[in-house]
Amino acid sequence: MTLDDFASILRRATDVVFFTGAGISTESGIPDFRSPGGKWTRMKPVYFDEFISSEEARVRAWQRKKESHLLYKEVKPNVGHTSISNFEKRGKLLGLITQNIDGLHSRGGVSDGKIVELHGSDRTVVCLGCGKDFDPEEVLESLGETFTSPRCDACDGLLKSGTISFGQPMPQAAMQQAQVWSEAAEIFVVVGSSLVVQPAASFPVIAKQAGALLAVVNREATPIESLADYSYEGEIGEFFRKLNPLLADA
Ligand code: APR
Repeated sequence: MTLDDFASILRRATDVVFFTGAGISTESGIPDFRSPGGKWTRMKPVYFDEFISSEEARVRAWQRKKESHLLYKEVKPNVGHTSISNFEKRGKLLGLITQNIDGLHSRGGVSDGKIVELHGSDRTVVCLGCGKDFDPEEVLESLGETFTSPRCDACDGLLKSGTISFGQPMPQAAMQQAQVWSEAAEIFVVVGSSLVVQPAASFPVIAKQAGALLAVVNREATPIESLADYSYEGEIGEFFRKLNPLLADA
């Protein structure tokens, strides 16, 4: 299938689901995780049970949160984010399932009701004891050069960024909505993910098994290449700059 063929199918489609990973944000200046120079090539993740049991691990996690929060404030959505939001504007977006926590899809124009964030969001801080929400800015500003990990002012519980760490239970509502959209998708488009983290990586397969046309847009091959009806192996920005003119009046 060529890009032109895929574009003509998209022009007629009304129930498109996008599934994105960190690859869609690299052209905004946010490194991904597993490419050369990616986050996990430079540091080890803090697992959830480690965060719970070790003050040193919590401080390490909060130091990283301080850095990433500053970066997220500076970066802007790129053509990938805005192109997906144009699908919503044209009434073609059934839903967006993202693994990303950077908030760029929202800032790129996709409405909240059309997004599920499988791995949570960097835009909230929550108490693990009582569930109280906190403004990340205030929590991060309260952390000096050296600090102990922040606690809840209501129950003294541990505060944690609203992102889902390895080993932490997945957000049930987001998982259920992702399942519904994957099963109902007419076209399911994976953009910028290595598809190595479960259970997130199962949704493209669920969609394909439910009858969706499966497309993958990624710089490198993914484990589901053999399942894909359409593959674009290259830069995401380039892909959308080629695709958008073909959809202009759809
Ligand atoms: N154009 C095309 N592909 C790109 C680009 C780009 N500009 N930038 C990166 N990629 C591709 C990489 O080649 C890689 O295959 O995007 C993919 C990103 O993969 P990962 O870094 O593994 O990110 P992701 O798939 O989102 O990771 C899933 O792992 O650590 C957890 O919670 C974290 O949500 C994340 C999850």
